[in-house]
Amino acid sequence: MSVIDVKNIHRIFETGAGFNHVLRGVSLTVNKGEFVAIMGPSGSGKSTLMSILGLLDTPTTGTYRLEGVDISTLSDDDLSFVRGRRIGFVFQSFNLLPRATVLRNVMLPLAYAEVDRREREPRAIRALTAVDIAPDHFDHLTNELSGGQMQRVAIARALVSDPAIILADEPTGNLDSATGEMVMQTFERLRDRGKTIVLITHDPNVAARADRALHILDGRLADGAFSGGGRVGGTLGTRTGDGTAATAVNLRPIASFAPVSDTSLPSRIPEV
Ligand SMILES: Nc1ncnc2c1ncn2[C@@H]1O[C@H](COP(=O)(O)OP(=O)(O)OP(=O)(O)O)[C@@H](O)[C@H]1O
Ligand SMILES: [Mg+2]
Repeated sequence: MSVIDVKNIHRIFETGAGFNHVLRGVSLTVNKGEFVAIMGPSGSGKSTLMSILGLLDTPTTGTYRLEGVDISTLSDDDLSFVRGRRIGFVFQSFNLLPRATVLRNVMLPLAYAEVDRREREPRAIRALTAVDIAPDHFDHLTNELSGGQMQRVAIARALVSDPAIILADEPTGNLDSATGEMVMQTFERLRDRGKTIVLITHDPNVAARADRALHILDGRLADGAFSGGGRVGGTLGTRTGDGTAATAVNLRPIASFAPVSDTSLPSRIPEV
């Protein structure tokens, strides 16, 4: 079964300057254990698509099935429940709590998910071990770490709830190439252990490490110029519709929720 099944989604933002039709008929299927890279110029809608895949935003039209569930049937509470348990986010800017320890940062999502207190620490330790953070770093504050260590802690935090998908938006964007390489090896190891990963990048060398690379062009996804270096390959990203799709679709009212910024930190931080 596919983990992600997106069909013909459009995303239109309403701004003071008018409508901004960013995604124009994107279809994408990602199977369990696949590692997919998405590329595209700045402003082409990569983060917009990622927000939709991560249930931080909903498409204006089109369908999204996550693990077989049509997300349009879910209430806001259900959406945050699914987001907290089935999706792990990794961002360019790490988004760790700077004055909390490594271990506490990784335990935090388990507190949000109301996982039994006694389970939180062993699970966080397993996630940190999976990304090669040594035990003598567990008590470090995250602002004492190198960039590569910070990003691996952020990957551990994304992993700890055992999500269906890991969504990474420019995870190597703030890292030098050697450190970025270490982070890419971490993603590859997770893929080899059956994790499903969707990664946005501007870097063709990073994209080439994925099973397949897709490009966002003119609001649609197209297969990359190269098929990735990974083990699955495939051509599941399809073009749907044409340039007139925007006027052909029957648009629902613009969604009324406030988009969530990827730099926002939770306002309520539970004890862990
Ligand atoms: N909440 C919003 N309201 C209005 N317009 C938005 C909103 N979010 C994104 N956009 C617009 O959607 C377009 C795509 O933005 P997006 O952030 O998805 O691009 P991107 O491909 O991730 O770019 P970058 O590579 O620079 O990160 C831009 O024109 C942006 O202004
Ligand atoms: Mg972006």
